[in-house]
This record gives sequence, C-alpha cells and structure tokens, in this order.
Amino acid sequence: SLVDRLFGMRQLEKQLASYFGIDKCLIADGDSDQQRKVISSFGRLLNEALDAKLPEKSNIIAVMGGTTMAMAAEELRSLETDRRHNLFVPARGGIGESVNVQANSVSAVMAMKSHGDYRSLFVPEQLSSTTYDSLLQEPSIKEVLNLIGQANCVIHGIGRALHMAARRKMPETDILMLKQKHAVAESFGYFFNEQGEIIYKIPRIGLQLKDIQHIPYVFAVAGGRGKAKAIRAYMQNAPKQTWLITDEAAANEILKGV
Ligand code: BG6
Repeated sequence: SLVDRLFGMRQLEKQLASYFGIDKCLIADGDSDQQRKVISSFGRLLNEALDAKLPEKSNIIAVMGGTTMAMAAEELRSLETDRRHNLFVPARGGIGESVNVQANSVSAVMAMKSHGDYRSLFVPEQLSSTTYDSLLQEPSIKEVLNLIGQANCVIHGIGRALHMAARRKMPETDILMLKQKHAVAESFGYFFNEQGEIIYKIPRIGLQLKDIQHIPYVFAVAGGRGKAKAIRAYMQNAPKQTWLITDEAAANEILKGV
C-alpha cells in the first residue's frame, strides 16, 4: 500500500542519514538516470526543505550550477513571508559550464520562482592574472563577493569527477592527474577520492569548501544510480549540517552491502 511505501521510504531516509552521520536525507521515488522527472521531485523536496528551514529574516542563499540544480530550480515556489526575504547569489565564479546551467542562471531562476532577489557575478573564464586581480577590485564584483561571504545557506549538486572534468573541458594533463589520484566525485570545483579527501581544487573566487563548514543551512542535491559512488565519496566528509536530497536508486546503491 501507499502507506507502506511511504513508511519504507522514510526508513530508507533515516538509514542513509545515519550512514552519513547527517541530520536528514530526503529521498524521491525512482532513478533520475532513467527518468528526468525525478529531478523535478528533488526541486519540490528542496522547496519544502527551504520553506521549513530558512529563518524568518533576510537570508543570503549561495547556489552552484549544474543540470540537476537548473532543473530543480524550476520547481521552487514562493518562499517569501512578511519577515523572510531571500537573496540568491552564485556561490563561485565561472567554473566552465554552459550558460543555462551556470550558477548565475540557477540563482536567477530560483529567485524568480521563489519571489526573491538575485545578484549575478560576472567573471570571464580565461583571464590573465593581472586582469583578474584588477577585476576583483571592481566595486560591483566586490559587492557580490561580499554578499557571497555572508551567505547563511548553500545549495549545490554533486558530480562524477571525470564526467565533470570532461564537461568543463579541463586539459588532458589535469584529467590524467585526476585519474592517477583516483578522483570519483566533484562538487563546486573540488575533486574528491573515494575516501572523500580533496585531491584537487579549481582555483576560483567565491565560496570555498572551508566556508561551508560554518554555514547553517546546506543542501546537496544529486541522484541517479550512476552517481552513487560520487555521492558516497563527497557525503562521507560533507559538513554534518548538510541535508542530502537524492533518489531511491542512488540510496539503495549506496547502502548495498552495508
Ligand atoms: C553543481 C556543482 O552544483 O553540480 C558541481 O557545483 C557538480 O560541482 C554539479 O559536479 C553536478 O552537475 P550535474 O549536471 O550532474 O547536476
């Protein structure tokens, strides 16, 4: 029955949360590798989670890019109240994604869907270090970086290392290095091995992994059986306040043999 199924899912959520030692997992039915609509369910779960967790004040929400984040963003609904106001910002500058899945776009869509505000961060990809340094002195960029530094919520995806390296067109030498170091997961420009240790970081401005440790509301959104290894690698060392939003297929694969 539906009640049994729901109960079963709640059990799976508890099991997965305790496996990672985190507060909460939210699990959608199905396998997002097989059915894209499962990613829309992530978006609805994310919306519920944000509504339940975000405090009644001015929040700054830093978001990452990716296909999962871009699709999930479409499902947000108003998160504004009399006393709650949300400002969305991209968490980090240009890490080589196509426009529609860039953090700037995800943050704009999330803001529009949830009736909040957003600010963009425009940092081109290929810059000489002198141009880069002077760009960082630009008041408009400084202002957004300052907002990112004040974020009290972060929402991000988790990717497979080599898949992300190829998608971002990283040089062959870097890809070889990632293989040699057994990279399995990638999140916000950091690469992790199976033990969840950082083995490489794409240097970019904006939020750093160490900053996330101190941010009270963190949501990781990733699913699909094919991502199970990557999710396990990243989540085992993830900040403990992270809520994981995933699907049944990834959860079962992660817990297989536990
Ligand atoms: C992003 C992260 O949110 O999601 C990336 O910043 C991560 O670093 C990516 O790898 C996953 O992308 P996708 O397209 O698989 O959802």
